Amino acid sequence: MHAVAAIASERRRYALVGVSNRGVASFARPLLGVAGGADSGLGYGASSDDFSHVGQLVAVLDVDRTRAEAFVETIVPDGYPPVAVFGPDDVEEMLRTSRPDAVLVASPDHSHGRYILAALAAGVDVVSEKPMVATAAEAAEVLAAERTSTASVTVTHNFRYPARHRRIKELVAEGAIGRPLHVSYDHHVDVRHGASYFLRWNRRRADSGGLTVHKSTHHLDLIAWWLDDEPVRAYAVGGRDYYGPGSPHRPAGTTTPAELRERDPYHRAQAGSGAFPEPTGQARRGMFDLPYEVQYPASREMTLYDDEIDVEDHVAGLVTYAGGATAAYSVEFSAPWEGYRLAIRGTHGTIEAFVGRTPDGEALPGSGELVLRPLFGPARTIEVPTAAGGHDGADPLLRRDLFEGPDEESRRLGLMADARQGALAVATGEALWRSIEQGEPVDVPGLLRR
Ligand SMILES: NC(=O)c1ccc[n+]([C@@H]2O[C@H](COP(=O)([O-])OP(=O)(O)OC[C@H]3O[C@@H](n4cnc5c(N)ncnc54)[C@H](O)[C@@H]3O)[C@@H](O)[C@H]2O)c1
Repeated sequence: MHAVAAIASERRRYALVGVSNRGVASFARPLLGVAGGADSGLGYGASSDDFSHVGQLVAVLDVDRTRAEAFVETIVPDGYPPVAVFGPDDVEEMLRTSRPDAVLVASPDHSHGRYILAALAAGVDVVSEKPMVATAAEAAEVLAAERTSTASVTVTHNFRYPARHRRIKELVAEGAIGRPLHVSYDHHVDVRHGASYFLRWNRRRADSGGLTVHKSTHHLDLIAWWLDDEPVRAYAVGGRDYYGPGSPHRPAGTTTPAELRERDPYHRAQAGSGAFPEPTGQARRGMFDLPYEVQYPASREMTLYDDEIDVEDHVAGLVTYAGGATAAYSVEFSAPWEGYRLAIRGTHGTIEAFVGRTPDGEALPGSGELVLRPLFGPARTIEVPTAAGGHDGADPLLRRDLFEGPDEESRRLGLMADARQGALAVATGEALWRSIEQGEPVDVPGLLRR
């Protein structure tokens, strides 16, 4: 009895900001020790691992009290110590009364900044979902606040964690291709997953920073981490040519959202997959059947062609790095398959990788291949173990690093992203959309100095 109490009192106390799909699946449930969970197919990384021996969830904060209370009622197990519920104006009170050792920030991207700043001001550590914040200006504020705080920020750049990506990091660091000169990285988000962003808050720049911030920070952080370098300038072209009012896929002549959905090729392409929310006449429900009374009330019908959509849905960019390397990066959110093609060229060889699957999840021929091609010598296929768990096995390892502490490999590879790396990823993503708007290259670190 005493031993149990002693262990319990040593557990690190966590507050979750944003009772989001991601926050619940990836942080809350593992901390609560609620094993298992559905994977929505949208990449939230549902968990089957249990960190209740090292961490305790003490509070949640959300703009949606009904949702937060439904979480406490239906997901927090009976007998668990009380989990307090707070609203968005109560962050200081939450920090004072619930005394978390760390705040897990998993609300929509535009809201991260103020919660991170409040936690840092109170000397409380932060784990922020990616992107760390939605704008470079907020990233600069976080960096400044961290400098004067006793606490620090860690950013969940989980795309570093899949075994393939860790192996590529090792190969580059070992000098397998000499000095890296150029990265070619093309990411494709399929017609189901890609379209789903345009039926959620992510579709407005004011909420997400745009998809070059919300989504591309995964890729831009990964490239900088592989190169062990920092971005300098970014140039991009791109636009919105799949979704929004000007979409060529918008069915003509429909008068109601229901009729539009009926004739919409994206809706047809995802039928039965669960990728799109089904209209029910009630507030939308997310994973674990939690309602979004505030974010997606019954009155808010969203279609892929709404006027408020203001983010790019395809981008092609060029990024230069301080050490002299360059990256050609592209992403689109309406592709026939999901995955990426990668080549990292160096003075002594090339690393090539390809990952691709159909919207139904069927691997494309050659998917998973990682090849090292020395300039003078035979090519070598590099075997990479497959791993269970969300995001290609990334999320369980990320959680281990966050909740139990990094292991030897994690420290050696520098797997955990800090605030500066989080800030640079945001600034690079912002530089891409600003470059599209301005038609000229943008100084990436300059965005953090404004
Ligand atoms: N690392 C990854 O692979 C990954 C995957 C998915 C999402 N994410 C990130 O996780 C975060 C949550 O995304 P999601 O799609 O799971 O969210 P979601 O849409 O499922 O939930 C958002 C939640 O935040 C609440 N909310 C809205 N505005 C708020 C505010 N101002 N303050 C507090 N709460 C507010 C909503 O009521 C809702 O409960 C985002 O930052 C997203 O980028 C990361």
